[in-house]
Amino acid sequence: MGAYEKAFRQSIEDPEVFWGQAAQAIDWDRRWDKVLDDSNAPFYRWFSGGMLNTCHNALDRHVAGGRAKQAALIYDSPVTGVKQVFSYEQLLELTAKCAGALVRLGLAKGDTAIIYMPMAPQAVVAMLACARIGAAHSVVFGGFAAKELAVRIDDAKPKVVISASCGIEINRVIEYKPLLDKAIDMAVHKPESCLILQRPQATAALTAGRDHDWDQALATADPAPCVSVAATDPLYILYTSGTTGSPKGIVRDNGGHAVALAWTMKNIYGLEPGEVFWAASDVGWVVGHSYIVYAPLIHGCTSVLYEGKPVGTPDAGAFWRVIAEHGVKALFTAPTAFRAIKREDPEGRLFKAHDLGRFQTLFLAGERTDPDTLHWAGQLLQRPVVDHWWQTETGWAIAANCVGLEMLPIKPGSPTKAAPGWDVRILREDGSEAAPLEAGVVVVRLPLPPGSLPTLWNAPERFRETYLTAFPGYYFTGDEGYVDDDGYLFIMGRVDDVINVAGHRLSTGAMEEVVAQHPDVAECAVIGAADSFKGQLPVAMVVLKAGAKTAPEQIKDDLVRMVREQIGPVASFKEAVVVARLPKTRSGKILRGVMRKIADGRAATPPSTIEDPAALDEIGAALRSIGYGQAQGA
Ligand code: COA
Ligand code: AMP
Repeated sequence: MGAYEKAFRQSIEDPEVFWGQAAQAIDWDRRWDKVLDDSNAPFYRWFSGGMLNTCHNALDRHVAGGRAKQAALIYDSPVTGVKQVFSYEQLLELTAKCAGALVRLGLAKGDTAIIYMPMAPQAVVAMLACARIGAAHSVVFGGFAAKELAVRIDDAKPKVVISASCGIEINRVIEYKPLLDKAIDMAVHKPESCLILQRPQATAALTAGRDHDWDQALATADPAPCVSVAATDPLYILYTSGTTGSPKGIVRDNGGHAVALAWTMKNIYGLEPGEVFWAASDVGWVVGHSYIVYAPLIHGCTSVLYEGKPVGTPDAGAFWRVIAEHGVKALFTAPTAFRAIKREDPEGRLFKAHDLGRFQTLFLAGERTDPDTLHWAGQLLQRPVVDHWWQTETGWAIAANCVGLEMLPIKPGSPTKAAPGWDVRILREDGSEAAPLEAGVVVVRLPLPPGSLPTLWNAPERFRETYLTAFPGYYFTGDEGYVDDDGYLFIMGRVDDVINVAGHRLSTGAMEEVVAQHPDVAECAVIGAADSFKGQLPVAMVVLKAGAKTAPEQIKDDLVRMVREQIGPVASFKEAVVVARLPKTRSGKILRGVMRKIADGRAATPPSTIEDPAALDEIGAALRSIGYGQAQGA
């Protein structure tokens, strides 16, 4: 039996032994009473009774243990022209000061703080500082609009918001502070204070009494020590899109998270302490939480924080430069980033200029890796390209080729096999198990391993309904897929209204809520249509009210502006078409799935309950008028 098979079996048959051993990699203030606490199933907890501090595990223990001078964080920012290396000692000093400043603002164990920041090193410092004092942070991605930030402020109820004057998108300065001010105005909950990083590219106006300047606050702060928290206490809340407009607050605990992430660095990514890891994502996404900040630091690695894009900062050779310059051993990014590079430099000319001597593996996730991109990247790099599948909810890979344990053969289109800890099954609609190669809903038998969500923030019932009710005893992933005869998993896409745009997860339901606000829109449907660059793009189909005053060509511009203002540019919402009616069942259910197939040019068989089959032809014509639905016809 190979190392993967052995680890997998033990993790499923004897999870307490498996994770109890993995927990040795973590410093505990108090040892746990139980590795797996199933006393309140189906709500499982890991390492209950244990006490620790995640920031201590990420910083202090490495400084004490001989890594003080080792680089902890390499900040590489082509958009500002800055490169900066923070040793473990320096990152600890800054973090302790930031924690002290937050304590002075009244933030304490059990409180929450929102972090709305660009990819500046201070974002990492702010996250670790919250962890240090036992306050749960909630990072909100900078590409979200004020309203989305307001929704998160109202749900997380932060005592403090940590933000910056601006972010930089290639060469555009995006002022964050006006968005934050607007969000606080809109929110019912008002944070007591804001800690604002003034960046040289823009100066934010500070509100007296509420806003504090980052530099001043840290300069006068006393370094704060680590506060011991329960393994089961929340480390962070990260909002992610569900099927409705109200985002779900994914909760991450301290103990299970630290144990699982430490395990993954060695066993999935094959990294040893002291080596350099780069997750080219954003701290606003789960990949950024797990693999820019927590996992590499907990494991004693050097993490790269890159404030730039795969292309345009300055060119499609940017990734190769960063890998070569900083001695990166493994890169983790979304396939869309490689599609962007391929589009600009299909021959890989810019690749040849760099020496990637220490680079070993490319990891891709966030969306399915299409075989074309996999082959292109593999041929160019001459190194393994590993697709792995996970979700904000799970915090780390559900399925992966565990390179550090044992490299299995790669099958294009598959994220390989379930990672240790994940008892993945494919179920039919009636709950029975699908046969090999038969597509079904992908679920995971409970309990989920450490590091995965224990619940939703302030919404345990929503947690149960969303994830645990469809198939009792299993976690519902929302994805559809199959397992082949060799046990390889293939993920085919979401079964719900969640879409994936450039590796960013978005809700079409949320977009429909915005579109429906237009005074001339009677009803609408937003679907995710396949896009060769971003994976999917949202497309709205709208039916106008009788006597609508806005010209149809103006409607699209209005809707694009509204979605940008209310959800944010990250939605990449650029297309809306006016149609006479939407295809529905006789009971009035809009046939979004059928429309999605038509948009993608796949064969679409309407259900026998369709109210008026002719509506589908009209949808097909409307979609073709904007360049969709061409491939195979409906
Ligand atoms: N703050 C403000 N605006 C932001 C933003 C941020 N942090 N991030 C993105 N935006 C804006 C972009 O500028 C763009 O605005 P535009 O419509 O005015 O052009 C819009 O949101 C859409 O962004 P995106 O979908 O990222 O498109 P892009 O064309 O700017 O870049 C890629 C495309 C592929 C280069 C980029 O998405 C990428 O590098 N993705 C891979 C890495 C990744 O982020 N993975 C996440 C999960 S692992
Ligand atoms: P997020 O929560 O943003 O990480 O998005 C999670 C969703 O992205 C999953 O439910 C999948 O639909 C999709 N996804 C992520 N990684 C992969 C992958 N490697 N293959 C296929 N789909 C993926």
